[in-house]
Amino acid sequence: MDSIQSLRGTKDIYGEEALLWEEVEAAARSILSRFGFEPVRTPLIEEAQLFARSVGEATDIVQKEMYRFTDRSDTAIALRPEGTASVVRFLVQSGLAKARPANKFYYYGPMFRAERPQKGRLRQFHQIGAEFFGSRSELADAEVIEALVRFLESLGVSGSVIQVNNLGDPGDRETYTRELKKYLSAHLPKLCDDCRARADKNAMRVLDCKKPSCASVIEKAPRISDHASAESRKRFEGLVRVLGSVGIACRVNPRIVRGLDYYTGAVFEVTHSALGSQDALAAGGRYDGLVESLGGASTPAVGFALGVERLLIVLKETQKDFRPSSAAEGLVAVMWMGDKARAIAYQKLSELRRAGVRSFMDFEERPLDRQFTRAEKLGARYAVVVGPSEAEENAFNFKDMISRVETRCADASFGSKIAQIQSAFAAKV
Ligand code: HAM
Repeated sequence: MDSIQSLRGTKDIYGEEALLWEEVEAAARSILSRFGFEPVRTPLIEEAQLFARSVGEATDIVQKEMYRFTDRSDTAIALRPEGTASVVRFLVQSGLAKARPANKFYYYGPMFRAERPQKGRLRQFHQIGAEFFGSRSELADAEVIEALVRFLESLGVSGSVIQVNNLGDPGDRETYTRELKKYLSAHLPKLCDDCRARADKNAMRVLDCKKPSCASVIEKAPRISDHASAESRKRFEGLVRVLGSVGIACRVNPRIVRGLDYYTGAVFEVTHSALGSQDALAAGGRYDGLVESLGGASTPAVGFALGVERLLIVLKETQKDFRPSSAAEGLVAVMWMGDKARAIAYQKLSELRRAGVRSFMDFEERPLDRQFTRAEKLGARYAVVVGPSEAEENAFNFKDMISRVETRCADASFGSKIAQIQSAFAAKV
């Protein structure tokens, strides 16, 4: 029979990579909770209109990339293409927006976009995101960006570039879009096919186009930051200043416009050269109108999301010897020969695990030399060996796999051996 393959643009994660994921998750949890974010897990499926009303009906995500289906009760459902809309839906539905003046959440999980797969671009990918509701202050934007930067620092990521821009208030954005459309319509013949189609319905996306043919038009296009109100500019300049005061350098790039409709005010992208053409490692910004447009009270908000697969590419390409710390945890091999020894060995294995020691045992009977070879291959630091004579005499052999010294011990001393193993592992010897 034919075997079944995974879908294009999806990935199985296993082995060392799966351990790295857990490390990344743990680092995110540690840093984001330090910054006061609480965990939230929202469903992977939502009503499709949630994303049409937030990300935007005319955006590429909603028009071309969202996985949609109609369920048995004829509800239009979407696999979530991003996390912000779901968190806002949750905030409004749960009543927390009313109950608490500020709400800060982080999330971790798969998102789905039917894009053309390539390096760093999948159809099921994972985001770590954080959203801060309830503050209009530029310190909230700074805090969100700082949490992201400290998270990357905690994993030893260097060389990422933070680019920021100011989209101004929603009114500013409308005036700007009108002006941009006028400009683009005067330069239509010079644009690529995609941008010609976008120029009217989704003009700001043209500014994101990487095709050389569009570059000269984009270069001379009006800049959105020039349309921001004096107050919005003051807040944006304040943000850049605050970030500088805590040692975070950012580059103001008037071409950062973001592909989702809900943004207002400051937006940002963190890029890394190790990623190639899909160079956005993380992105986010302020979205002060979204909570209200999804049925809540007017609530200012700002957040970010980072692509986990892209972060792993950066880690692997920039830190060739990056290994999950769990792979370096001490390991004990339990070995045995004969039926009586087998049962005793399993009890010893259980006792080691209950004491928190990572340990394993071969359940199939194999010659001891093969058990040793396997233990060496897996990196066992110590071995506990129960042969037929040890089983008869209530004893076991304890072997240091590095010095190869083997000592015979009475069963009664197993507890103190475990203590010795624990302190050796704690001291990483
Ligand atoms: P986004 O820019 O669409 O923003 O996605 C954020 C990050 O997710 C990207 O920078 C990238 O690392 C990763 N990403 C996006 N699409 C893919 C893909 N097809 N394959 C692999 N990785 C991908 C958002 O999703 C917003 N919700 C961010 C946000 C949060 N804004 C405010 N709060």
